[in-house]
Amino acid sequence: MKRRMTRITLKAGSIALAGMAIAADASAACSRDMLQGLADTYVQAQTAGNAAALPLAANASYAENDVPMDIAAGVLASGMTVDFTRSFVDTTLCATFTELTAATQDPPYVIHTRMEATEDGKVSKIESVVTGPEDWVFGAAEHLAVTRTENWGEIPEGQRDTREVIQAAADAYLNNWGDPELPVPHGTPCSRLEGRISTAARDPEGQTCTMGAFPEKLNVTNRRYVIDETVGAVAIFHSFPWLDAGIPKDPGTPASQSFRVEGGMNRYIHEVTACTTPNCSRGRPGGPPPGGAQQ
Ligand SMILES: *[C@@H]1O[C@H](CO)[C@@H](O)[C@H](O)[C@H]1NC(C)=O
Ligand SMILES: *[C@@H]1O[C@H](CO)[C@@H](O)[C@H](O)[C@H]1NC(C)=O
Ligand SMILES: *[C@@H]1O[C@H](CO)[C@@H](O)[C@H](O)[C@H]1NC(C)=O
Repeated sequence: MKRRMTRITLKAGSIALAGMAIAADASAACSRDMLQGLADTYVQAQTAGNAAALPLAANASYAENDVPMDIAAGVLASGMTVDFTRSFVDTTLCATFTELTAATQDPPYVIHTRMEATEDGKVSKIESVVTGPEDWVFGAAEHLAVTRTENWGEIPEGQRDTREVIQAAADAYLNNWGDPELPVPHGTPCSRLEGRISTAARDPEGQTCTMGAFPEKLNVTNRRYVIDETVGAVAIFHSFPWLDAGIPKDPGTPASQSFRVEGGMNRYIHEVTACTTPNCSRGRPGGPPPGGAQQ
């Protein structure tokens, strides 16, 4: 609401070029340093098992695998041996994303966390896809071995894609699940890390991101984004239809995909998907989905 009011105010006074310059600045609703600080604090809180370390806004919400709960009752209540994290931030949406791998402890975890913040640096919403043994093709050690070798570093300013281009590359991947004819801009190389399975193993320099068609068309809904142009990254939290035989086909089970996009093309895709039934049962007629199920 506040952001919208700011934009309207600027529009009314945007006769001068100076006004346009201010409007461009105003599109950064939150500071990068503030958001990066919150992502760092989240990792510290999870490492220590100290949810209270996070500065929460009044009415902040917390949910794991789409189940709202008390933050003190979830995974943040227990310390973890965190082996690797990767965070990026969205200054337009005031949001952060963190991939967290705890592979060397029992039980192991791979967690994707999305946080929304207020302009003054309070966390207003936390949602995590928390995966462990018996979630979709889970394997923290294998995930760790691959993710830590990948380059999701800063892209030089002149070579960065716009947030629209970054989002379009990622959305095309999910839209293709509902329309297998739809082209997806995968670069070469491109690899997908889905739980313990990396398509890079097939051909590290090749384009191994393309999936075959699902046995039926899937409508991927409930998409929530974090987009960081400086590293060409986007995370999409969403519902994964059909996969989990233990629940209704739609909207499906909680999942998150993070993408590294270079020159408008997907370079890396990471998926974590929570199962309501062990290993998602894979009981759907038509068999397991293509791609990640190749073991
Ligand atoms: C918190 O939620 C209550 C009830 O929905 C609302 O009245 C109040 O304004 C909210 N406070 C903030 C700070 O958003
Ligand atoms: C789930 O998958 C894991 C890894 O393949 C396996 O060890 C485990 O037995 C499976 N659990 C069930 C209930 O099928
Ligand atoms: C997908 O689901 C959403 C939400 O239910 C709906 O609005 C949309 O029309 C659906 N799209 C297709 C292609 O079925």
